[in-house]
Amino acid sequence: MPIVAPSLLSANFLNLQADCDLLNKSEADWYHLDVMDGNFVPNISFGPMLIQFFRKATAKTCDVHLMIEKPERYLTAFKEAGADIITVHAEACIHLHRTVQQIKEMGIKAGVALNPHTPVATLSNVIKEIELVCLMSVNPGFGGQQFIPSTLPKITELKKLITESDSSALIEIDGGVTLDNAPAIVKAGADVLVAGNTVFKSKEPLATIASLKRIAS
Ligand code: DX5
Ligand code: ZN
Repeated sequence: MPIVAPSLLSANFLNLQADCDLLNKSEADWYHLDVMDGNFVPNISFGPMLIQFFRKATAKTCDVHLMIEKPERYLTAFKEAGADIITVHAEACIHLHRTVQQIKEMGIKAGVALNPHTPVATLSNVIKEIELVCLMSVNPGFGGQQFIPSTLPKITELKKLITESDSSALIEIDGGVTLDNAPAIVKAGADVLVAGNTVFKSKEPLATIASLKRIAS
């Protein structure tokens, strides 16, 4: 069964409590929390303050996806806010290995995200150190975009790298995941499905989450 991680970016920010209540009673495994700085990506979302509130609202894993430049400046703030996993972008880290070590030294799980144009091989010297790889299946910055099909062979390639390196990293797919394309994504080797619009724009979010959860590989 895939891990299902609804992205709160698509939630109703005028009534987050209702959306948290919904996720808490759903079969969703993680809260996927998208932090955007208006520099690394063209959009601005939220920072550690809101993550503190999500932390209080749920016992589920808080999966924090940092789409920010120089994320090393904010690792402590996001840990203190309650992140269980911190994912940084390879493209945003000059010293990616050091940044990964800093996350792990704080006692939380480290993830690395790759933009659609970034080769999987970028991770070959860090793959054993990390718990999660977030493959972007859209260009980061906005919810509700179309899945980029070239992500599918990239999943296969990443799976091979993970197996050959004896790494325990999970493969997370982020962007444009729908009930239609999720079976192919899971079949290719994905472990974690992020879903923003597919969950929050659904007429029946609980049933949609349950369907994502039941996708077999
Ligand atoms: C995009 C974010 C995603 C986004 C996914 O930059 O990283 O997590 O919220 O939203 P959907 O599932 O609507 O593409
Ligand atoms: Zn994300």
